[in-house]
Amino acid sequence: EKGTYPHFMLKEIDEQPIVMRKIIREYQNGDNQIKLDKDIRKAMQDTDRVYIIAAGTSYHAGLVGKEFMEKLANIPVEVHVASEFSYNMPLLSEKPLFVFISQSGETADSRSVLVKIKELGHPALTITNVPGSTLSREADYTLHLHAGPEIAVASTKAYTAQIAVLAILAVDTAQAKDLTLDFDPLQELALVANAMEVLTDQKEEVEQLTRDYLATTRNAFFIGRSADYHVSLEGALKLKEISYIQAEGFAGGELKHGTIALIEEGTPVVALATQKNVNYSIRGNVQEVVARGANALVISMKGLEQDGDAFVLPKVHELLTPLVSVVPLQLLAYYAALHRDCDVDKPRNLAKSVTVE
Ligand code: F6R
Repeated sequence: EKGTYPHFMLKEIDEQPIVMRKIIREYQNGDNQIKLDKDIRKAMQDTDRVYIIAAGTSYHAGLVGKEFMEKLANIPVEVHVASEFSYNMPLLSEKPLFVFISQSGETADSRSVLVKIKELGHPALTITNVPGSTLSREADYTLHLHAGPEIAVASTKAYTAQIAVLAILAVDTAQAKDLTLDFDPLQELALVANAMEVLTDQKEEVEQLTRDYLATTRNAFFIGRSADYHVSLEGALKLKEISYIQAEGFAGGELKHGTIALIEEGTPVVALATQKNVNYSIRGNVQEVVARGANALVISMKGLEQDGDAFVLPKVHELLTPLVSVVPLQLLAYYAALHRDCDVDKPRNLAKSVTVE
């Protein structure tokens, strides 16, 4: 039920801090430690390479998950779009572990990969919001998102839940391998939940940004580097699928290799700046587009902010920034769709669960 909310999407955006806290509770043992099922732990310890398979927003969550697994747990990861993997399978490592990320657990493209890799005898873990779903039943292991039903076609709370569960999976594996972490993951996720709450209270500010930057535009670009690049892909997808504004996400450094040709007077460019090591470079990319007339909307993180930034996010752990930077992008998409009288919860041509290949 939507309750007092005008749309499920807005309700689901607002539920994100609650979902974060639920995930923290569900995945900790008595002494505030992350602890996963021992079979999942073993599968992660035994593999020499993780293959993440997903579509759309879940694929974007997978890109963030790769960073966690590589940086925290020291496991090489490949992230694949399910529909491509199915028909053009890459060379596999000796001991692959397949991780399917799917809110619905019913996506036919992902299922087709699951069927193929099971025929080859490889193990599979499904991360899903629907534990009884096809992808969950047919995989060896399941991790539950605990996000509650997601009704709006545009995925919001499932994306952040997927990222949080991927972080927990990476941390659990790191602990199993006796790798030391220099931060307390549950504490950092709790800080993320608080930051999300601050952001969901800033709807009016984001609505104003939508008016200022996206009111009449036909297109928009999202740029970022490293983790911000992955989130810019998701920001662009959210905006295009519900507001029908043509939007593209780019790695900041790729702009000059082609896309910058599209920047003209007033083109909106949403730039994310949450990563210390690339702050200088992304700022350079912003200057490049501004010099060509772009209307740059910079979303930075406390500690890295500069004069002129349109929005400053509360500071969270550098690996976890996607969990907070995506929130204003979800809200931007929501208000852009609302202002254009689009059907926010049921955008044209789209279904919540894509059960055809
Ligand atoms: C975008 C969106 C889709 C889904 C994709 C995969 O907002 O919802 O891109 O993420 O269709 O769906 P699941 O996660 O159910 O496999």
